[in-house]
Amino acid sequence: MTSTEDIIGRADANDIEAILAVTNTDVDSVLHAVKDNADCLYTWDYSKGARPQLEKLYEKAKLGQWNGETDLPWDTVVDPLQEATQLYSQAAGLDQMIDFTGTGLESWGEKEWIEFNLESQAWTMSQFMHGEQGALVCTAKIVETVPWIDAKYYAATQVMDEARHVEVFAKYLDTKLDRRYPVNAHLRMLLDDIVEDSRWDMTYLGMQIMVEGLALAAFGFMYQQTEEPLLKKLLRYVMSDEARHVAFGVLSLREVYADLTQAELRERQEFAFEAALRMRDRFLQQEVWERMGADVSKVLPVIFDNEDRREFQHLLFTKIVPNCKKLGLLDGGDGWLRKRFEEINVIQYEDWIDTAEEVDSFAIQRELEGEDNPLVAR
Ligand SMILES: [Fe+2]
Ligand SMILES: [Fe+2]
Repeated sequence: MTSTEDIIGRADANDIEAILAVTNTDVDSVLHAVKDNADCLYTWDYSKGARPQLEKLYEKAKLGQWNGETDLPWDTVVDPLQEATQLYSQAAGLDQMIDFTGTGLESWGEKEWIEFNLESQAWTMSQFMHGEQGALVCTAKIVETVPWIDAKYYAATQVMDEARHVEVFAKYLDTKLDRRYPVNAHLRMLLDDIVEDSRWDMTYLGMQIMVEGLALAAFGFMYQQTEEPLLKKLLRYVMSDEARHVAFGVLSLREVYADLTQAELRERQEFAFEAALRMRDRFLQQEVWERMGADVSKVLPVIFDNEDRREFQHLLFTKIVPNCKKLGLLDGGDGWLRKRFEEINVIQYEDWIDTAEEVDSFAIQRELEGEDNPLVAR
């Protein structure tokens, strides 16, 4: 039987020292090579619409295209310090929620917590940008590896979507926040694992279900929180694409996973659990604390153990858990993934709406205007 150590390289999923030991050691390198180990599949079966739901998504995606340069109000003046200060006035510092006695953070006042908010925003947007490049690469791989023509067509639109997402996050970081962070080591390990896997459905599972499912929830929180008009519109547009992407994963994999053996299903469950832990661990924002001069060996264990923060973090799984359930991954075989999701306290979202059902609620106006296209309306 595969152990937690086999899956993520440590026996205890909550071993904070082991989590902190994973760091990005080549932050100055510009390129990062990964073997993608997959066969490129041609199909000579060009029957468009053999999978009607994928065809519909493809038509919606064509209507939902937008231009990151011209559709967003880049002339908006953004003052990141003012944004960070406003956030502080709404929510105060983490010290209002967590007791930092003995960590060195007792001396932090308003100035430091506002600075932390500023760095945290840049870190979060940077990880979004790196994750978006992961999505760009993975979707290009799906175009090559998926056997169905409807999925190749749809994935091709997603490649364009993801290029646009990388572009707008990079532009926001460079022109509005004026600082950025390298890729978090947990996130990079996850992206590497997804790209390295030779099986085409694992690209979908890792990227469309896990990474993009979490991104959709995370973008939603930031969208609710921010009053900054450029960022709000940027996130609104990105979310309209992401909802289609997650729905693409759910619709494609449901068909495949219905026919898997118990052993094959278990491999997918383990992969989903690994991805869940890696994403959870990156949200410790280790690099932000380091840049702020905090002693991470003292601060992060206190944060990691704080119940209120964990509760909030679990909300990031509101899309992932119902989508895994819809794919039959929660209860497939002996229900292995259900037990793991119980252990990390995210199982309570299992009956929330899945993304294949809610995709239209994210649509932007031009997609909705396509309702008179019979392929979209059905
Ligand atoms: Fe994206
Ligand atoms: Fe996406």
